[in-house]
Amino acid sequence: MHRVLALYGDITQRRVDAIVNAANMTLLGGGGVDGAIHRAAGPELLAACREIPETTPGVRCPTGQARITPAFRLRAKYVIHTVGPVYRDGMSNEPKQLGNCYRNSLELAAKHDVESIAFPAISCGVFGYPSVKAARIEVNTIHEFLTTHQCSIKQVELVAFDEDMQLILMHAIEAKLGKAI
Ligand code: APR
Repeated sequence: MHRVLALYGDITQRRVDAIVNAANMTLLGGGGVDGAIHRAAGPELLAACREIPETTPGVRCPTGQARITPAFRLRAKYVIHTVGPVYRDGMSNEPKQLGNCYRNSLELAAKHDVESIAFPAISCGVFGYPSVKAARIEVNTIHEFLTTHQCSIKQVELVAFDEDMQLILMHAIEAKLGKAI
């Protein structure tokens, strides 16, 4: 049995096995949650990201894919870096790419026997994804993965950085699971 929780706060403070980072394709840090995670994890995180091989010049993680590193000074064991789509019009493959972020992050977490994982609202900041649409994809993708895979994951935290987003996530959970946890 697994639990999916909508929480409000700073993801870097979560006591989970893996924290997911909303990164960019270079994996060399940025603003938003990417910046917060790198600041909290320390410079070793950037060094570890630099070790990740480029798939094409300047790209270490294509959109929708995920890469894993240690979490260094964070409480977590791992940081799973994933790159969300930049929102254009919702008809340029963004929904599929956003779903891939959650699915590939969970797959990578399960491969590393992760039992608890925290996600930020991927693409809902700089990348401009409308929060309600993104929350539905987040909850549906996570639910679909957990109900079709026997894996180590027992708790998934959806961490909102503001209360409006937390409410949106709670409503998405309620719509999918029939109850806000
Ligand atoms: N804890 C939890 N959530 C956070 C935190 C935090 N400390 N800081 C920001 N957020 C939230 C934002 O409020 C937003 O809802 O994370 C969500 C994702 O926003 P961004 O961090 O802007 O990420 P995204 O929209 O995916 O854009 C990624 O921004 O920082 C750069 O390098 C990153 O180029 C990449 C782009």
